[in-house]
Amino acid sequence: MNDLLIAYRLLRKRFRDGTFSKDFYEAFSYAEEKAFFKDLVFGVLRRQEYLDWIINSFLKKKDIPPSIRTVLRIGTYLLLFTNTPKYAAVNETVKLVEKQSFRKLVNAILRNISKLSYIKEPNEIHLKYSHPKWLIEYWKKFLSKDYLFSMLELNLIPPKTTARVNKRKIKREDLKFSNIQFTKHSPYGIIFENFNSSPWELKEYLEGYITYQSESSQLIPLLVDFSPDEYVLDLCSAPGGKATHILEIENVKLYVNDIDANKIEIVKNQFKRLNLTPENFSIKDARKINFDIKFDKIFIDAPCSSLGTARRNPEVLRRQTPENIKKLSRLQKEILNNAWNLLKKDGIIIYSTCTVAFEENTLNSKWLVESKNGKVIDIREKLENFDVKYLWDGYGALFYPDESLTPFYVSLIKRSD
Ligand SMILES: C[S@@+](CC[C@H](N)C(=O)[O-])C[C@H]1O[C@@H](n2cnc3c(N)ncnc32)[C@H](O)[C@@H]1O
Repeated sequence: MNDLLIAYRLLRKRFRDGTFSKDFYEAFSYAEEKAFFKDLVFGVLRRQEYLDWIINSFLKKKDIPPSIRTVLRIGTYLLLFTNTPKYAAVNETVKLVEKQSFRKLVNAILRNISKLSYIKEPNEIHLKYSHPKWLIEYWKKFLSKDYLFSMLELNLIPPKTTARVNKRKIKREDLKFSNIQFTKHSPYGIIFENFNSSPWELKEYLEGYITYQSESSQLIPLLVDFSPDEYVLDLCSAPGGKATHILEIENVKLYVNDIDANKIEIVKNQFKRLNLTPENFSIKDARKINFDIKFDKIFIDAPCSSLGTARRNPEVLRRQTPENIKKLSRLQKEILNNAWNLLKKDGIIIYSTCTVAFEENTLNSKWLVESKNGKVIDIREKLENFDVKYLWDGYGALFYPDESLTPFYVSLIKRSD
């Protein structure tokens, strides 16, 4: 089966079911070795609104079957965003059409698009940057213009893979890779330019020298001052990125929790791979969990709407709704509420999300401070030491995205009673 047909089947399923499928995940790893295929699948997802705008400008009747729209999105992407020869892009895409009666139409539209002498640009921001319209309007309400446009621009650029170097084992300067750069903000981060084989089979990964993790995530535990032997709880730990990092940084007594039993197995394997041993694992709902000890630090890397991960997972933009943001913010509030009771006096909650949503970030941090009399810990100087630009809302910071940093929110709130 050729790449184009695999891409079509994946995208077809994706557009029809509206959720991630197992094949989709499998294709991610497969795609690492197939740059063209990966660029095509993610490019079509990333540019969906824009591609539809171009396609619709050539359609008399906009209401076409979803399978035909998928084919047209693929063909239009190949024509406008890849170096595929135009005749091949048209001919190969037309072969994907299953309904014979639509072949002529697809052929005609793609031929017209192939004759465009320049890439047309819409006036509307949501079309130009391929984001849902409601989301742009929502973001405009609480983001600066500069932040919004930086994020929109970057969301169109495929991300590179980043990893964290295990400082217990090696310095990033001593790694023997020829295809990496160092991250700008995280002192332990590396950026892979490319992979010659599967990232999961790299010796450095298998032997615990590196852990794949976004640069933003790497910064979260680095904002915290740990003392040896203090009690630290990670309430929402899977797949273990931050939990394992905490133990790489300091020998704390780490309690690791997640609601999902399968995911906790993944977390356990990550600790094993890194040869690190937490104090305790649990599989409980963070809204209700209780312990017979109290904690010095509690990490809540909350389940969230993940809008800050759009560069890696473009479809998250289409999956989210205003209702879902509200629902998630209620869930997060319940987790924060319970976590507060698990803190020692002077204990600190480290609340983080990988989303850009006012209700989930600012409003929840504000609620915790106001309803519990919590004290905001000012992390601005620390962020500046890491050369991170941010929007500060009086409670926490929303990282500005850049080449390798993705939007991330974090607030540190202390219990002082
Ligand atoms: C953003 S992820 C955490 C990522 C992780 N901290 C890391 O750095 O790798 C959120 C996690 O919260 C878990 N989760 C969702 N609802 C939960 C709940 N009510 N209680 C505990 N964990 C929950 C999910 O299973 C998911 O693994």
